[in-house]
Amino acid sequence: MADHAQEKLTEDVLAAFAGTPDPRLRALMTALVRHLHAFAREVDLTPDEWLAAMKFLDATGQISTERRPEFILLSDTLGLSMMVVALQQARASGGGAAAKGATPATEATVEGPFYWPGAPELPLGADLGEGVPGEPAFYMGRVTDTEGRPLVGALLDVWSGDGEGKYDVQLAPEPVMKARGRLRTDAEGRYWFWSILPAFYPIPDDGPVGNMLRATNRSIYRPGHMHMQVSAPGHVMLTTQVFVGGSPYIDQDAVFGKRDTLVVDFDHHAPGKAPDGRVMKKPYHSASYDFRLAPTPA
Ligand code: BEZ
Ligand code: FE
Repeated sequence: MADHAQEKLTEDVLAAFAGTPDPRLRALMTALVRHLHAFAREVDLTPDEWLAAMKFLDATGQISTERRPEFILLSDTLGLSMMVVALQQARASGGGAAAKGATPATEATVEGPFYWPGAPELPLGADLGEGVPGEPAFYMGRVTDTEGRPLVGALLDVWSGDGEGKYDVQLAPEPVMKARGRLRTDAEGRYWFWSILPAFYPIPDDGPVGNMLRATNRSIYRPGHMHMQVSAPGHVMLTTQVFVGGSPYIDQDAVFGKRDTLVVDFDHHAPGKAPDGRVMKKPYHSASYDFRLAPTPA
């Protein structure tokens, strides 16, 4: 097919979508077709390569279940989930048109497949890491708005894997909640709790996405991190993670979720009195991180 015939083919397909009544769907479909056709032409895609790609997508669908969302993992490992998170955060903060004196909201990152709604509501200072393998760690900080005013009663929904790199949902067919909890900030917007120091871990790699990562010589690992969903009335809910500074794979996150602004250097402490007065018989870690929430757009 000559160049002009290839161009005509793209135009014909675009024209076929021209009558899409929903303007947003029309924009999405026509941009998708333009980029797909341009991709095929750029790489001079062969029938065998396209068939292999279709089989890959087919296998991605075959292995997918509610607890094993392989297409989301594919989107994560292509950096597309993180791109959508970044676009949404820019949109929610009015594209940077913040009030005078305001600092940007804390960076958002991917939620991942291990969020489990309905974690127990716990008092400040609770230990989410009871019965969880791993070294103890104390977490503290404040939740404020983008002008530094404390957000009282903000909800932190916290979850992580354990110190061996496993989430509760991966440990048994009928898992019980571990290393999860919901806490509310005090009258000064402060929070504090105990858990474990989360370890790096491999993302599920026994399916097509794992094959893709190995074929392309990529890391299958995520650096250690603590997931947080932080919400307060009148503010944009923040889904983010606090990363363990110095963790293996800190610069090779398989899902590109790590942001430099979310990396915390945990302090290491000998046994003794912790900041909340608890007397620790073993060594422990501590991390301090403040969250800033953007106002809900008008
Ligand atoms: C996670 O951090 O839990 C995660 C995120 C994306 C893919 C796999 C796991
Ligand atoms: Fe995680």
